[in-house]
Amino acid sequence: MFTVRTIHSLRDHLHPWRRTGERIALVPTMGNLHSGHLALVRRAGEIADRVVVSIFVNPTQFGVGEDYSTYPRTLDEDIRLLLGENTDLLFTPDVGLLYPDGTDQGTWVEVPGLSGILCGRSRPSHFRGVTTVVAKLFNCIQPDVALFGEKDYQQLQIIRKMTRDLCIPVEIVGVPTVRESDGLALSSRNSYLTLAQRRIAPQLYRILQRCREQITTGEYDFEAVASEARRELQAVGFRPDYVEIRCANSLAPPTPDEEQLVVLAAAYLGRTRLIDNIIFSSK
Ligand code: PAJ
Repeated sequence: MFTVRTIHSLRDHLHPWRRTGERIALVPTMGNLHSGHLALVRRAGEIADRVVVSIFVNPTQFGVGEDYSTYPRTLDEDIRLLLGENTDLLFTPDVGLLYPDGTDQGTWVEVPGLSGILCGRSRPSHFRGVTTVVAKLFNCIQPDVALFGEKDYQQLQIIRKMTRDLCIPVEIVGVPTVRESDGLALSSRNSYLTLAQRRIAPQLYRILQRCREQITTGEYDFEAVASEARRELQAVGFRPDYVEIRCANSLAPPTPDEEQLVVLAAAYLGRTRLIDNIIFSSK
């Protein structure tokens, strides 16, 4: 595995692969890798000939007062983990490479509508930062396929739409959420939890599972299901941001006969914001 930090050396490595028609996959990450990220890397190896991983803690997707400065940066350990996987190339650009005129003087890529709902309501500029950096990474690497986790389901759907709307020739592949044995979705932010909070955290998934169960056994009042889940989250010690049942494709509020649904939630334990979701068929 080679580690490159400049566009020039990136192109040097990519060029021979592209010339011989090899299929190139990109797995964009912010590092502090865990088994969830590694599941993306493994899947990438199954569907492509070459796997490129990027590690870049993207400043523009963090809001004022969020955890940009304290976000865990563990490059040596990340490299060690990637060496155990089928990674061909690691791209770790500096902020100045991706934002040559600074982080507030550049060009933005924005998916309106989808970026303003759910997580976008409490993190108003977050998805604009995500789509902008992902578009830059797509341009730097020009992969055939890029993989994203279903754990960040709204992000995945926004990137799908950006790619479609801008005719970007990259196939987007979603990968199922990897969980701890108690159901908690793996996340770099789980390391912020105290022991007591860590014990509460799996309840988020349990409560979402209950929502799914209620709907698949015939409950059509989605708002009633969601507001009960918000109450339950509060009762076990979370500060809920939202729980919503949406159409899995459009993220719009569903009609009662919609079959492909997703229940999504965001909730705080102390200052740590956890998100999770379950995609399911109502029939
Ligand atoms: P990051 O949080 O590092 O996540 C990188 C990728 O790993 C994302 O596609 C995310 O959905 C996926 N992932 C995280 N936890 C997962 C889990 N438990 N199971 C499966 N996949 C999981 O998401 C980002 O970085 C950034 O927003 C990024 C897309 C890199 C843009 O900066």
